[in-house]
Amino acid sequence: MAFVEFPLNKAFMLFEPGPVILVSTHDGKKNNLMTISWHMVTDFTPTLALTTGPWNHSFKAMMKKKECVLNVPTVDIIEKVISIGDCSGKDTDKFKKFELTPLPAGEVAAPLVADCLACLECKIIDYIEEPGIFLLQGVKAWIDNERKERRTFHANGDCTFVVDGETIDLHHLMEDKIPF
Ligand SMILES: Cc1cc2nc3c(=O)[nH]c(=O)nc-3n(C[C@H](O)[C@H](O)[C@H](O)COP(=O)(O)O)c2cc1C
Repeated sequence: MAFVEFPLNKAFMLFEPGPVILVSTHDGKKNNLMTISWHMVTDFTPTLALTTGPWNHSFKAMMKKKECVLNVPTVDIIEKVISIGDCSGKDTDKFKKFELTPLPAGEVAAPLVADCLACLECKIIDYIEEPGIFLLQGVKAWIDNERKERRTFHANGDCTFVVDGETIDLHHLMEDKIPF
């Protein structure tokens, strides 16, 4: 693993395809992880939104510290990622249980996950209680350019997942829509 900084103005591209992600937090005492598939990009800067609420342990750390890291896992660790979404940081050290490595981030206390392809450090701008949406501002992005497996995966919502496949380049049809 070797994270290098990724341009912040392109970091929306890590999330626009809607991969299943790991959200890491630090509550002042402990690191934690949760799995999230309900998220979206809301602006190029980048700002993002994700849906969660007080039924999750991570929620308390997010409300308290107003920051988190969005980590993009690849298909080689899919079983760990799904199992992380099936237990609680309240009684489980998920980094230890799933043998994942936390790394210090640059701008937030929540850790980067070394086992992921990319990470976006975020400050929490707001929480909209109904319907339970965090609004996030990305402040620093990282990518592992040396990672062999680069295919992310996407939840269908019925316990099945789609893995990245062919990329179709349509620059000639929409180049004017992207800011760089
Ligand atoms: C594939 C998958 C996607 C998930 N997506 C979300 C989501 O978008 N929002 C959410 O609140 N929980 C989601 N979960 C559930 C949380 O990850 C789960 O409740 C987790 O155990 C919370 O951990 P915590 O209590 O340590 O915070 C998802 C779980 C899985 C397996």
